[in-house]
Amino acid sequence: MLITNIKGLVGLHPKDKLVLRGSEMNDLHVLENAWLLMEDGFIKDFGKMSEIPSSILHLPSTSVSGKYVFPSWCDSHTHIVFAASREEEFALKIQGKTYEEIAAAGGGILNSAAKLQNATEDELFESASIRLNQMILLGTGAIEIKSGYGLTVESEIKMLRVIKKLKNAFPIPIKATFLAAHAYPAAFKEDHQGYIDLIINKMLPQIAVEKLADYIDVFCEKGFFSVEETDQILKAGAQYGLKPKIHANQLSVSGAVEIAVKNKAISVDHLEETNEETIDSLQNSNTIATLLPSCSFYLGIPFANAKGIIDADVSVALATDFNPGSTPSGNMNFVVSLGCIKLKMQPEQAINAATLNGAAAMEISKEYGSIAIGKRANLFVTTPMPSIAYLPYSFGEMQIETIILNGEIFNG
Ligand code: NIG
Ligand code: FE
Repeated sequence: MLITNIKGLVGLHPKDKLVLRGSEMNDLHVLENAWLLMEDGFIKDFGKMSEIPSSILHLPSTSVSGKYVFPSWCDSHTHIVFAASREEEFALKIQGKTYEEIAAAGGGILNSAAKLQNATEDELFESASIRLNQMILLGTGAIEIKSGYGLTVESEIKMLRVIKKLKNAFPIPIKATFLAAHAYPAAFKEDHQGYIDLIINKMLPQIAVEKLADYIDVFCEKGFFSVEETDQILKAGAQYGLKPKIHANQLSVSGAVEIAVKNKAISVDHLEETNEETIDSLQNSNTIATLLPSCSFYLGIPFANAKGIIDADVSVALATDFNPGSTPSGNMNFVVSLGCIKLKMQPEQAINAATLNGAAAMEISKEYGSIAIGKRANLFVTTPMPSIAYLPYSFGEMQIETIILNGEIFNG
């Protein structure tokens, strides 16, 4: 497939550039008035229209004048396998109840777990497929999906099997993260070590046998899992080759980031609450700070200090956090807009964070997240736009016209 007359080909980072740190995020590397050739699912070549080789001029081509071509969004933090929405909590939130209050009253994660325990694998696969299809149509071309609404051996495994089925059914890369340490089930409210033992001795070995997870996650937060408990779980995960990607500093500064960095986490996610020490601990590490501004937007909690984190030369990724409780939306376009409007990221920084750095936060940036010869042809073509900044500027509007996955148009 040959695309010609592209107004701007966006995200042309060198193929060996696997992650962008700090000020490296300022440049998007755009080629204006370009062509792009794809073959067998990969990017074969690209260049300026004025220099298009005569050898490819005979190929069937699509002209996209006025439109941009972007690498697909890489959404590195989601919880899209769930049994039911939770809009009943929406009303409570509007009345002023906090996330913690709703959780403490039996809402929140435990509410989702009760519903998921009663759902079949087929039902969960069906509803997650609908969500994922919708997200792909919104430009997402790679995704991470977490367990964490099972909270029993059987149901955590059930969730991970659903994610495995999604991996086989969809034409995009999917990474699975094991998040049994999402909340203490009621039966273990007074017996934390009992639940941790279940994770370590029952769940992890079975997950390893069935190869059901790529990463391990813990919701490290007051009222959920302590720093010490997090450390214990991450170390157990490492025994099975699962690297950490954890929920850190969402509701308070807790020491979660520091313990994740010590355990060589791929990413620390949320970071709505940070101080100087948090940022210092990230500065000399390769851990990516994954920010989830649509969670802040929906819960009405602070927005992460993206500028402080980027100024400290840390890599920032943006992701949706799609889940029924804190972020009932999987729209990366809105996340990129919020990255600019609320996190005060420049459009170039936000787009890099949602593409190459998102791919890096799933360890797939060798193949995804930017436009380079030899990388997978997962991209989207925009509507005619005056500039790249127009995409995040026109928040809530749909500027994506065509989705291309593995070099082929995807219609859903
Ligand atoms: O990332 N904070 C923990 N987990 C999810 C919310 C889960 C839920 O409320 O169901 C999050 O925001
Ligand atoms: Fe989350």
